[in-house]
Amino acid sequence: MSEAIETRYGGLAESSCCLSCGTAAQSCAPKPGQVCLDLGSGRGTDVLRLAEAVGPTGHAYGVDLADGMLEKARRTAEKLGVTNATFFRSTFDRLALPGESVDWVVSNCALNHADDKPAVWREIARVLRTGGAFVVSDIYAAEPIPEDLARDPEAVAECWAGAVTRAEYLAQIAAAGLVDVRVLEESTPYEKGKAVVASFTLTGTKRASGRCC
Ligand SMILES: C[S@@+](CC[C@H](N)C(=O)[O-])C[C@H]1O[C@@H](n2cnc3c(N)ncnc32)[C@H](O)[C@@H]1O
Repeated sequence: MSEAIETRYGGLAESSCCLSCGTAAQSCAPKPGQVCLDLGSGRGTDVLRLAEAVGPTGHAYGVDLADGMLEKARRTAEKLGVTNATFFRSTFDRLALPGESVDWVVSNCALNHADDKPAVWREIARVLRTGGAFVVSDIYAAEPIPEDLARDPEAVAECWAGAVTRAEYLAQIAAAGLVDVRVLEESTPYEKGKAVVASFTLTGTKRASGRCC
């Protein structure tokens, strides 16, 4: 899957076409000094906005696996003199960040591409600080995507075949232990590739487990 994603998105790094499917980064409210993480940061626009919001005592990280996107994002950060943003190459399920180190995880139209989505949600739950929150815009499938299409790297890279149903999406978040999940916006269904999908923006938090010894 990674190769098709890298080829598709590496080629889109210099284009100005919109790759988003919601308003994840605009729907979070980072404070000065906080740490933000954008999964699938693309050209880096949201990371740079978040870096500005958290100021010099905070930090914004962008994660992507397309080198073209990472280079574009780093060049823009340098041109704008942004020093509190870091872009690194990684898939979403194994992040080189310590546990309990991030206040906000944002992602826009990227998690549907991930091979192991439950592992991605567990990783989000791991890196979030207790009390931290995620805001994710993504697509879901109106009906389960047939197995042959869900395994087709080109179709997954086109941003539709990797989608899971709404119920499965919410179940994966709950299974990772994230709570207070709310839908902030949701589209009507539309056709994409060979599927019918819809876009939504979700938020939720990481709470202390409440268990005691
Ligand atoms: C549709 S684009 C969205 C980019 C950006 N969030 C935006 O709204 O403009 C998806 C991005 O996620 C990255 N991506 C997709 N799957 C990934 C994965 N498994 N690990 C890391 N990055 C991934 C792609 O390279 C691409 O830059």
